[in-house]
Amino acid sequence: MFLRKEQIQRLINKYIFSQNKSYWARYGFVFIITISFILTRTLAQVFLGKYISLHLALLGVMLSAWYGGLIPGVITTLSLGLINTYFFQTHNIRLGIAEDLILLVIFIIEGFFISLVSESLIRANMQKISFINFASHELKNPLASIRGFAEILNKKLVQKNFPKLAEYSSDIIEQSDRATNLINDLLDLNKIEGGKFTYRDESINILRFVKSIIENLRLVIKDHKIIFKTDLEKADIFVYGDKYRLSQTLINLVANAAKYSPKDSDIKVSLTSSKRRIRISVQDFGFGIERNNLHKIFNQHFREKRPSTSYIRGLGLGLYITQQIIYRHKGTVSVKSTPGKGSIFSIYLPIQFFN
Ligand SMILES: Nc1ncnc2c1ncn2[C@@H]1O[C@H](COP(=O)(O)OP(=O)(O)OP(=O)(O)O)[C@@H](O)[C@H]1O
Ligand SMILES: [Mg+2]
Repeated sequence: MFLRKEQIQRLINKYIFSQNKSYWARYGFVFIITISFILTRTLAQVFLGKYISLHLALLGVMLSAWYGGLIPGVITTLSLGLINTYFFQTHNIRLGIAEDLILLVIFIIEGFFISLVSESLIRANMQKISFINFASHELKNPLASIRGFAEILNKKLVQKNFPKLAEYSSDIIEQSDRATNLINDLLDLNKIEGGKFTYRDESINILRFVKSIIENLRLVIKDHKIIFKTDLEKADIFVYGDKYRLSQTLINLVANAAKYSPKDSDIKVSLTSSKRRIRISVQDFGFGIERNNLHKIFNQHFREKRPSTSYIRGLGLGLYITQQIIYRHKGTVSVKSTPGKGSIFSIYLPIQFFN
């Protein structure tokens, strides 16, 4: 049974890049490294001299320390150092034992410092994550009151017929919404990195779900025409997942379609299905994406640098978050694009059941 690309990516994110690795994962890793070292050392006894095997042990320490930090690194240092010296060394030269002891001490000192450096890197990253969390939450409250007051102001100014001032106050509302969205993206990125992105799954009637998102988007995106098409009007198809997170993915794709295409151009959203999967696609008729960049656009912080789009702002997080959410739902996201003509982004999700 082969793992699909997105499943591999999900496992890598969970067990390798997450900053929130469990106790079992960290110490289990030490165990795996120790066993791998013993096996390699036993099987390749003839080829591995004293120094090569010491380097091998050091590699094991680096991996453990990088994965788990100080304590797993130190445990690996002690276990591999002792195993290497006492079980595999043959003392048939004069002064061999003294030399082995000196090597062992140097090895332990090196291992300790490698573990210390790894621990400080892990801590620095955790501090970055908690700082972004703290700062984002602190920024959200004043932004919410700015938006609230701007809304009151806007209503009054419309009533009293001050069109220019009313326009300024709706600009404040728009900009504070933008800032809130950016902060939410940062918080989501933090949660993904910290392994704390939570999901509340339920069965979702996909047609109703997509329609209601499109209706809401039409209220917000007024300078584009969003056209929705489906051949599933009579089918009751359900997918299993988190409504809020899935809506985030479709909103991201439509927001991109609006952002990277000229005013008043169409955005076509369609919902289709095959036997096992549904496909939601979002098509725009905008700037498109360079062929060489197509494989990079789902990377964190990647943004195309082209004169035609350089004035458009963003953090380069929307597609990364979208892809992470879709992978978590055992789906995929794909893109087709022609520069100057437009792009089609498609989300594929497994069908849970038909009603
Ligand atoms: N529909 C599209 N048409 C053209 N280029 C696109 C489209 N969608 C995404 N891109 C390109 O991919 C890049 C990454 O998109 P992504 O949504 O991740 O970030 P962003 O829109 O720049 O910022 P944000 O974090 O606010 O979403 C964009 O900067 C843009 O260059
Ligand atoms: Mg975006």
